[in-house]
Amino acid sequence: LITSTSDPAWTRVLVEKPFGRDLASALALDRQLRQVLAESQLYRIDHYLAKDTVQNLLVFRFANAVFEPLWNRRFIDHVQISVAESIGVEDRAGYFEQTGLLRDMFQNHLLQMLAMVAMEPPLSFEADHVRDERIRLLRAIRPFDSENLDRCLVRGQYTAGEINGRPVRGYREEEKVAPDSRRETFVAARLFIDNWRWQGVPFYLRGGKRLPRRVSEVAIGFRQVPYSIFAPLAPEELRPNVLVMNVQPEEGASLSLQIKSPGPRLCLGTVKMDFTYREIFGYQPPDAYQRLLLDCMLGDQTLFVRHDDLEVTWSLVTPVLEAWEAGGEPLPYPAGTWGPPEADRLPAEDGRTWRLPGGS
Ligand code: BG6
Repeated sequence: LITSTSDPAWTRVLVEKPFGRDLASALALDRQLRQVLAESQLYRIDHYLAKDTVQNLLVFRFANAVFEPLWNRRFIDHVQISVAESIGVEDRAGYFEQTGLLRDMFQNHLLQMLAMVAMEPPLSFEADHVRDERIRLLRAIRPFDSENLDRCLVRGQYTAGEINGRPVRGYREEEKVAPDSRRETFVAARLFIDNWRWQGVPFYLRGGKRLPRRVSEVAIGFRQVPYSIFAPLAPEELRPNVLVMNVQPEEGASLSLQIKSPGPRLCLGTVKMDFTYREIFGYQPPDAYQRLLLDCMLGDQTLFVRHDDLEVTWSLVTPVLEAWEAGGEPLPYPAGTWGPPEADRLPAEDGRTWRLPGGS
């Protein structure tokens, strides 16, 4: 709760997630809050929105004229968004046993990143203009096909394995975790957005605990060239451009390009044009929570979640939570791997593969 001494009427409340555990409880919590507070006083936190590199998605898109004309189904083949962590549930097993990854990271961080990548240009950078467009995009996400959930979602749970050469326990062996727990520590999804810009473009999202390393990134895979003038190389042999926005830990961006390698013969190679915040600014961006506290004091709600946002994201994930709670088991993956091998099926069915996050 933040109040001002100079103006006692000025009261704002920061609310940290989880906001409820499904659509009904999130709406009930919100009703209670709004009985005593105006929407303008409520600052609901999703700290991913306040990461400089997540905001950079909007700056990249809307402060440069070169990207936006390409930012659609004509030029983009697919998008991959990954939030990987090497840590397990640490001392939060009690909380995690009640939540699982879909609630903890997917309903919020992954979907908000998706919204920032795919939303239409807002009228201005003013809070409600930005939030209107974010929510409009979230509303356009096609609901998961409840009859065929396995075709669009894979849930996993880590078993014992190795991280950085150190043996680690499986999730069910963690303290305060039930030995037969069905909580998911990994989720991969294939989503589609039903609007003119994105029709038919798959968005692959994944997040997980005890993956090989901590890395969050958004990778925009462009289409392959329509025709190759470099016979005998076929168009599919010319590697498509990939724009990677590195959210963390190596904050920055890179664009892969094909170039001619030196020499008399025609040989092509792939290079990267890139920058990191560390190299350019000499330091890494500040912690997202610092920014959120400052913005709350300044009364700027741009980076906070509005009530209608909660409704849309919980409506998308609640049928999945219900189906998962009704039966089935998460698929095992050894700690230190990129999730259950079954997750590869999601892009593979479309003839694509997951990229190695943080890789080339
Ligand atoms: C939190 C989740 O919201 O985000 C945690 O509850 C997770 O489980 C954390 O570890 C990740 O945040 P960051 O900023 O370290 O990527």
